[in-house]
Amino acid sequence: MALLEVRELDVHYGGIHALRNVSFSVDEGKIVTLIGANGAGKTTTLRAISGLVKP
Ligand SMILES: Nc1ncnc2c1ncn2[C@@H]1O[C@H](COP(=O)(O)OP(=O)(O)O)[C@@H](O)[C@H]1O
Ligand SMILES: [Mg+2]
Repeated sequence: MALLEVRELDVHYGGIHALRNVSFSVDEGKIVTLIGANGAGKTTTLRAISGLVKP
């Protein structure tokens, strides 16, 4: 069962399209890591989930 479900998430910083169509789910009881190159959007993804930036 998914504890967290993210669907088609987009985030813009002004004219910068930082996240495009991001979807994933995290099942209850699982430990999940988010990996990617510098600037890929890891921090922005977590900020959006936390409500610190507007989707
Ligand atoms: N406050 C900001 N203003 C403008 N662009 C930003 C800001 N924060 C991040 N970005 C841009 O958004 C993209 C994703 O960045 P970020 O989420 O920090 O990536 P990561 O955490 O994977 O290194 C990059 O292109 C970065 O330059
Ligand atoms: Mg980061």
